[in-house]
Amino acid sequence: MVETPETSDLHQSSGGLGTVVITGAAGGLGRAFALGFARRGYPVAAVDIAPDGIEETVQAVTEANGTAAGFTADVTDTASTNSMAQQVNEYAQSLGTTVHAVVNNAAIYATINRSSFEDIDPDEWDKVLGVNLKGPWMVTRAFSPYLTAGAKVINLASATVYSGSEQWAHYVASKAGVIGLTRVLAKELGHRDINVNTIAPGFTLTEASYGLMDDAASYGVQRGALKRASQPDDIVGAALFLAGPDSSFVTGQTIVVDGGRQFI
Ligand SMILES: NC(=O)c1ccc[n+]([C@@H]2O[C@H](COP(=O)([O-])OP(=O)(O)OC[C@H]3O[C@@H](n4cnc5c(N)ncnc54)[C@H](O)[C@@H]3O)[C@@H](O)[C@H]2O)c1
Repeated sequence: MVETPETSDLHQSSGGLGTVVITGAAGGLGRAFALGFARRGYPVAAVDIAPDGIEETVQAVTEANGTAAGFTADVTDTASTNSMAQQVNEYAQSLGTTVHAVVNNAAIYATINRSSFEDIDPDEWDKVLGVNLKGPWMVTRAFSPYLTAGAKVINLASATVYSGSEQWAHYVASKAGVIGLTRVLAKELGHRDINVNTIAPGFTLTEASYGLMDDAASYGVQRGALKRASQPDDIVGAALFLAGPDSSFVTGQTIVVDGGRQFI
């Protein structure tokens, strides 16, 4: 990894940069988080169920002079998640670091049906809640033995929790659950000096979200205080803040990053 004066300062200010775990890192926001953390000097453990995308993320981080390794796991599966956490911890130790932050970003939304609450298939409901809500619980649980004082957990919710996006009851409920989970984890991990927070992005242009509608590039732009579309990099700063030393007394909170479309 190339040390720039900027990353060197940040190393010192954060007391030595530990490894950041990012689930759902095969593309979209997960890849943007991986690159954002790597550019600040954090080693990255890129986790996803999709092995090809992980390799691309690791390559992108390497080309940006960062340090990353890829790990395949299904965040809904206990054995897979526990095994991944153990491997990631060994990777962190091999770099002389600990696991500093877990970013629970993996979710499904683009591949699910949008329909009224009466018409949602119960199997699909279970699948959405499984990945989007059980996943962050299971991943945090798997990493809990490896997290030490000063570690951070960052969960991804969605601004749809506040807008009550119609035809998407399972997705919105799963993300509302993430906010509740965050508050409980903040209390249960707080006595270990571990911070747990949520980022709730507004509609952001990723490959997955782009496919949701024809007017994706202009969707919501006029409703926002800031009149432009949200790009993945727009969400990264909040994660860097929540993983860094400047948020050490912030826990159990949700930061909406949506250019001012919702005020909570
Ligand atoms: N893009 C947006 O507009 C937007 C808005 C609000 C919230 N979010 C949230 O941000 C996060 C990232 O969104 P995105 O647009 O990058 O989505 P994305 O679909 O590009 O990324 C999600 C990743 O999760 C992975 N994944 C799915 N199931 C998994 C499983 N069982 N185990 C491990 N990995 C699994 C997928 O392979 C994928 O790489 C999600 O939590 C999403 O709900 C996105």
